Amino acid sequence: MNVLMVIFSQTGNTVKFAESISNSFSSQGHNVYLVTLNQFKPELLSSCQLIGVGSPCFNSQAPTPAKIFLRGLPLLKGKQAFVFATSGGAPGKVLFDMSLLLRRKGADVIAGLHTRGEVAYPAPALKGRFPGRPNQEDLRIGAAFAHYIMKKILHPANDDLIREFESHKFAWNFYSLMAYLITDGVIRLLMPKPNHLAQRCQKHGICQINCPMAAITLKPYPSVNQSRCIRCFRCVNTCPELARLLQWGWADWLIALVYNVPMERILGAIKPGDTVY
Ligand SMILES: Cc1cc2nc3c(=O)[nH]c(=O)nc-3n(C[C@H](O)[C@H](O)[C@H](O)COP(=O)(O)O)c2cc1C
Repeated sequence: MNVLMVIFSQTGNTVKFAESISNSFSSQGHNVYLVTLNQFKPELLSSCQLIGVGSPCFNSQAPTPAKIFLRGLPLLKGKQAFVFATSGGAPGKVLFDMSLLLRRKGADVIAGLHTRGEVAYPAPALKGRFPGRPNQEDLRIGAAFAHYIMKKILHPANDDLIREFESHKFAWNFYSLMAYLITDGVIRLLMPKPNHLAQRCQKHGICQINCPMAAITLKPYPSVNQSRCIRCFRCVNTCPELARLLQWGWADWLIALVYNVPMERILGAIKPGDTVY
């Protein structure tokens, strides 16, 4: 079987997880095309029967670049699909978002899996969570997920379901519901705007290359289209000259209020026994 896997990843966690799934498909004798959102070409779809989409979680939902990609896909009637994600706290409805958009295109979404990924998001309240994740055990589960998917496709009558691998369905919880309120507009209002320090900027254009929303332009340099910025802070994290500065102020307190470990544990977003730091 030909499998197409399309991934959005900023710091590599989702790529690492995707590779464990892809390697497992390959070891079962399937052909896998693993591409990023930017490398994706619609022609790839025609020869693939199974499509996987992977992404990090942003603000307890699927990130806007992943949603834009999924909304722009052609019809996927007759194709089967799966979704996977990495997250550093409360994944909310990230997998459901992706599976819903795939289903709207006509795909039959058969499985979904979430794992942990080390947090590089620069808010002091969150940065550094889940160090080293996804780890070897997460990657082993990723490989098992690929076996599960193939079993579901090849033996559809077998109803031997593994709950962890069916995480694409909507889960009623605080973070899934809250995610409906946190739109990009709300995030722009609540989270700090990266300040540009002209005296440090060497005009390498790395921020422009890395911005997943193509919100930064070089002419005039560096101009940010604020209505496109999703506050992912990729420009802040990747600038070698540290020419983009964040002033967190009360925004960090707000994050700590909503995404604090005891609360995430009580609300079931972090499983018992899962080590955060
Ligand atoms: C803008 C932004 C928002 C995030 N929001 C959440 C969140 O709401 N819940 C969560 O569990 N993790 C959140 N994270 C953490 C990432 O989902 C996590 O670190 C992920 O593994 C990163 O994947 P990548 O390395 O493939 O980019 C956020 C990260 C970023 C950059």
